[in-house]
Amino acid sequence: MSNGGNDKLKMTHHLLLTTYYLPLATYRLILNPISVVFVFTVLTGIFYNLKAEDFTKMREEMVRYQIQARGITNEKVLRAMRSVPRHLFVPENVRNSAYGDFPLPIGEGQTISQPYIVALMTELLDPDESDRVLEIGTGSGYQAAVLAEIVREVYTIEIIPSLSKEAQATLKKLGYKNVHFKIGDGFLGWEEYAPFDGIIVTCAPPEIPQPLIEQLKEGGRLVIPVGEDFQMLKVVEKRKGKIVVKDSIPVRFVPMTGIAEGDVLLPKPSYKGKVSVEEAISKRRSVRNYSPRPLSLKDISQLLWAAGGRRDVDAVTSASRTFPSAGARYPVNIYLIAGNVKGIPPGLYRYNWEKHKLNLLEEGDLREALSSACWGQDMLKKAPATIAFTAIESKIQEHYGKRGERYTYMDLGHAGQNIYLQATALGIGTVAVGAFSDEKLKSLIGVKTEIPIYLFPVGYIK
Ligand SMILES: Cc1cc2nc3c(=O)[nH]c(=O)nc-3n(C[C@H](O)[C@H](O)[C@H](O)COP(=O)(O)O)c2cc1C
Repeated sequence: MSNGGNDKLKMTHHLLLTTYYLPLATYRLILNPISVVFVFTVLTGIFYNLKAEDFTKMREEMVRYQIQARGITNEKVLRAMRSVPRHLFVPENVRNSAYGDFPLPIGEGQTISQPYIVALMTELLDPDESDRVLEIGTGSGYQAAVLAEIVREVYTIEIIPSLSKEAQATLKKLGYKNVHFKIGDGFLGWEEYAPFDGIIVTCAPPEIPQPLIEQLKEGGRLVIPVGEDFQMLKVVEKRKGKIVVKDSIPVRFVPMTGIAEGDVLLPKPSYKGKVSVEEAISKRRSVRNYSPRPLSLKDISQLLWAAGGRRDVDAVTSASRTFPSAGARYPVNIYLIAGNVKGIPPGLYRYNWEKHKLNLLEEGDLREALSSACWGQDMLKKAPATIAFTAIESKIQEHYGKRGERYTYMDLGHAGQNIYLQATALGIGTVAVGAFSDEKLKSLIGVKTEIPIYLFPVGYIK
């Protein structure tokens, strides 16, 4: 792989900021030839219905005045930017502005990047014909199409299903056969097809996601905007297993949502298993020895769903969860203390049962503290994760008064048995834990009015 042209880019960076961040400064519009082309383009678009050949001409001009003028020289990149009909990747009402020197909205709060940024990121990736490239953030599908013109296979992930479906339709219509789509959280990459020769990320996480570094081939490049208010476009190279990170230019991308923002959408639980209910009941036992093997998000998804996830709402009683609850009140919250779950950072999460999501409350491995809160019980330190139930006092009192307390314990007995049976069916071990310091556990979970009731460490059996 060649050396990407970093210095040249720094020199052209000023030009980029001029047009990208200050498009309304009139004096700049007058002085800057690129802006003049842009204004002309927009005005032409407003007054005329543009034809295919007009778009081809605008594309030529885009490449010449926005991309080559800023120092992009990679022939493969220039050729791809000349070929892909960018106007077919934007909504119809902004089609005539598709070749302007700016990003455009594509719906769902997302954007298609400024043409120069697409060209720059593709050049920084330094792709070869034989490469397999992963893209995070399909969006309109434009960047995927540019890559597909150059490399052998493109794998692209989008978290918003409607955007992915639209991009799939656009690329299919244009005849691209080497682009593979996935709807999901790009933070996790696409393990089945890893390692990749290159990875390009078109949304900004606060930090470089570890799974992407792991899925990069030796000698491969990862091009990624990193940061929150201030973002820097970074080029990450893997050399002899070591990571070398170089800054390119400041940029502004939409934030990476999902896990990067502490919001983990769990995979859909499966409703069919290989173990019968009878088998699971007869095999169920408490397990306190766990192997160091990590749990997968699929395992966690299944266990949390069994513990208290969503099921079809009963029309009469509006009961809606996997365990029975007195008066369908469900006066509980479910937390996950994750230490070794593949794909998510160690930390304390709250389970959102309605959306089947995890919300990160605190990052860091809390298992030592958890074990200490449970009077030093060792299995809580060793288990890859622990499911914790708390009771919400107000919800208990408001309906059943003092008796509600008893009902809460009964509810959680059912939820706990669900965990035992689901774990047994998956070959995972668990044990009910009731011995702990209420105060220590309250402080660890960060709750004041909720009362910790029941814990279930989970992990593969040693
Ligand atoms: C309410 C309750 C609290 C428990 N607390 C603990 C505990 O703190 N530590 C532990 O090792 N086991 C605990 N257990 C697990 C029991 O010891 C276990 O269920 C019992 O020995 C029967 O074994 P089995 O579950 O394998 O059938 C608890 C079980 C229940 C139902």
